[in-house]
Amino acid sequence: MRLDKFVCKSTSLTRSEAISKIQQGEFQVNSDVVNDESSQVHANNTVLWNGTLLQARPFRYILMHKPTGTICSNVDEVYPSLFKHLDVDHVSELHIAGRLDADTTGMVLITDDGHWSYNITTPTKLCAKVYRVGLSRPISDDVVDKFLQGIQLQGESELTAPATLDVITAHEVLLIITEGKFHQVKRMFSAIGNKVVSLHREAIGEVYLDVDVGQWRYLTAEEVLRLAH
Ligand code: URA
Repeated sequence: MRLDKFVCKSTSLTRSEAISKIQQGEFQVNSDVVNDESSQVHANNTVLWNGTLLQARPFRYILMHKPTGTICSNVDEVYPSLFKHLDVDHVSELHIAGRLDADTTGMVLITDDGHWSYNITTPTKLCAKVYRVGLSRPISDDVVDKFLQGIQLQGESELTAPATLDVITAHEVLLIITEGKFHQVKRMFSAIGNKVVSLHREAIGEVYLDVDVGQWRYLTAEEVLRLAH
């Protein structure tokens, strides 16, 4: 982790305050004064601020039920950020592992651990995302096989990875995908001439959404580990 990030994670300094104090020579890493905020701090390093030992706050892992009309961003835009529902400190350190559209509801994972969220979002790790999808037109049976073979999305050079479709009713399906391309679910159904009218993420990996809309909870240590693989 960069020194300025480590300082922010172990003090109440803002990023710019941390950088200024690092450049003024207030921090030592393994007894050496370090003036470069971009230098790396490793787990076994000792960091002192004017002689006081610093310890980074532990990583946080949060599950939230995103309401419709909120955006997966740290700041409000046309819609308010879903972080308005999150009453924790140092919110600016957090990021969302796999965004949902403003009109999509359901499970969102929030963390300050970039390595962990990479495992969830990178397609090569095959982390399943389960969506309940409402459709404007009745779904035909051949779509199950099409989704398994891969769909050609507009503007993409490769087919989508194999996706599992479970038809619940003519207008409602459960879809499991392991990728997270921009508007992927809506584009997959659009590519076969259908239209998504409601979209809700029920699960990520083997962890299911179990809090009410707008509510959140910390993941258990066991869930954190399970999602990292
Ligand atoms: N796919 C979409 O099209 N939208 C989402 O919010 C999530 C997946």
